[in-house]
Amino acid sequence: MQPPRPKVILLMALTVDGRSGLNADHFPDWTGAADKRMFKSLSQKAGVVIMGSRTFDTIGKPLPGRLNVVMSRNPDRVSQHPDLRFTDQTAAEVLQMIGAAGYSEAILAGGATINDLFITADLVDELVITYAPLTFGQGLGLYNTMKTLRLSLLAYRALDPHTLMVHYCVEREGVAEDRSL
Ligand SMILES: NC(=O)c1ccc[n+]([C@@H]2O[C@H](COP(=O)([O-])OP(=O)(O)OC[C@H]3O[C@@H](n4cnc5c(N)ncnc54)[C@H](OP(=O)(O)O)[C@@H]3O)[C@@H](O)[C@H]2O)c1
Repeated sequence: MQPPRPKVILLMALTVDGRSGLNADHFPDWTGAADKRMFKSLSQKAGVVIMGSRTFDTIGKPLPGRLNVVMSRNPDRVSQHPDLRFTDQTAAEVLQMIGAAGYSEAILAGGATINDLFITADLVDELVITYAPLTFGQGLGLYNTMKTLRLSLLAYRALDPHTLMVHYCVEREGVAEDRSL
């Protein structure tokens, strides 16, 4: 029997005007310490974080204490690090691999290009968005395709006096599940 598909939580920081970065090389140093603490806590709880190769390159090394699954189509990208796996699998195959490894949830951590792969395949279950107190006026979004996600609000709270976390469930068949972080 196939293991159940892990729950996918898209975890991103956005500016108030909905930008996830200025460009592909933009180091995410604007999201704030409270966002970074929450990212660490939720991704360590899940045990696995999925990201695109450009996002990985802005970080420069695997995030410790979690399996880092980095999506890349570059066959030269390989790693001997036990917590770092480059893959050109599809989104569904990545989740199958993660489920088979025993994980029940996975953090999808961007960027917009890789989020797109999971969103178009209808494989995102929840969104945890941090709204950082700034605007860019231009830049990358949350994902790149024209696709409407209908969301239910699960929770929200201030991470610090300036930073808001909002937790949504992606609605399927009009029924929102009751989940909290
Ligand atoms: N605000 C936030 O919370 C947050 C979070 C994450 C990232 N970011 C920002 O987002 C930016 C990077 O995002 P991005 O959208 O440019 O890049 P990305 O999604 O991180 O990575 C894109 C790369 O993934 C690989 N790829 C594309 N399609 C693929 C497929 N079908 N299968 C396997 N690999 C595939 C390609 O690299 P190869 O050439 O290796 O194939 C592509 O260049 C940076 O500015 C970063 O700081 C912000």
